[in-house]
Amino acid sequence: MDRIEALDARAREIMRGNDMGGYTIPTKGLYPFQWNWDSAFAAWGFSTFDLDRAWTELETLFSAQWPDGMVPHIIFHRPDPGYFPGPEVWGTRTDPPTSGISQPPVAAILARRILAADPVAGRARMKALWPKMLAWHRWWRRCRCGHGVAAVAHPWESGRDNCTDWDPGMARVDASGVGEYTRRDTGHVDASMRPGKLDYDRFLAILQFGRDCGWDQQTIVERGPFLMADPAITFILIRAHRDLAALGQELGADPGEIATLEGWAADLVAALPMIWHKKLGAHVARDLRSGEFAPAISSGAFLAWLANCARDEAEARLIAIWDRVRFGIPSSDPAAPGFESRRYWRGPTWPVVNALIAIGMRDSGRDALEARLRRETAELIANGGFWEYFDPLDGTPCGGDAFTWTAAIWLTWARGGLNGEGA
Ligand code: GLC
Repeated sequence: MDRIEALDARAREIMRGNDMGGYTIPTKGLYPFQWNWDSAFAAWGFSTFDLDRAWTELETLFSAQWPDGMVPHIIFHRPDPGYFPGPEVWGTRTDPPTSGISQPPVAAILARRILAADPVAGRARMKALWPKMLAWHRWWRRCRCGHGVAAVAHPWESGRDNCTDWDPGMARVDASGVGEYTRRDTGHVDASMRPGKLDYDRFLAILQFGRDCGWDQQTIVERGPFLMADPAITFILIRAHRDLAALGQELGADPGEIATLEGWAADLVAALPMIWHKKLGAHVARDLRSGEFAPAISSGAFLAWLANCARDEAEARLIAIWDRVRFGIPSSDPAAPGFESRRYWRGPTWPVVNALIAIGMRDSGRDALEARLRRETAELIANGGFWEYFDPLDGTPCGGDAFTWTAAIWLTWARGGLNGEGA
């Protein structure tokens, strides 16, 4: 077996090992439930060797959709005492129990790729998922896009928990009443690679506000302790609306609904100037309570390519940020204060985000950039293993090991980077 085949086999073994029957956990110990965007990436990974299982992953995810259309960020299928905050802390009273916020809506983007793998076999399953995805996209529109671009009501909703993007909003969160609690994450992973204590207090204070108002979205958006415009979700949602519209065309969906999706994407594009930071020269997260911008350019800005919304004047600046590291797109600019090369979303590079950025590079004809990103991501995984994230300066593996989405990204995209293969 050559090196790539051995890595392929290990990636499949990880995905099978994390398969709990119908849904896949991100990794054992640290994340023992179903996570929203992890599952969409898992489905994409499964599509390379078990298409039926790929569709099942998405179906299980959408089976926990709330009546208002939200697809929650965690689904607690089975109790597990090794995780905090569990269902009793969220208090959503759903069946199955879930968290009360969402996560980046990548499902339609990846479902389109999964369908392309076998349009005949997947047709009926995608057809059944389409209205559910539409309902979720409508939820984003109704509950998170009222200010123009997409907002997040909790840093966890962004999927990029402690990124510098959230510093201005987090600084305004009063965590003095949060009470005593015991974290579980730092029992699984080195604390220096995880969010700090004050971050955690604030994460919980925002959660408690949501729980105390019965997860009433209007209250959360109008009066919640945290609401920030997220460039990453905005670009992902633009792309996802368009991909869902394209899927609708293919499946013969109602033309009115397809036009609605295209209209939502256009509205987001029209709102982009509100997150354009003139001085930094890129799209930057912004506190919707105070108007303050985040202090640094994050990997979210690179997702402009995914949405085909990149501005020419940002290109050199983004490449310069990338050139400051050796491996992959850093989650925050290494030259900006607040960068920490191993602390979660404050600097490390994440194969999943690299893969999304690469889709954008590829689609916009930036083939050389895409090849470089793929090569760097492949080196990280081939040399370090299937870890959650990596130090972009020296490639040190970080966080949890045997990680589902890293295995999925290997199988779907990164593997070609080892021998310079194109897409
Ligand atoms: C962390 C990540 C988030 C991911 C989850 C499970 O919370 O920040 O993006 O979905 O872990 O892997």
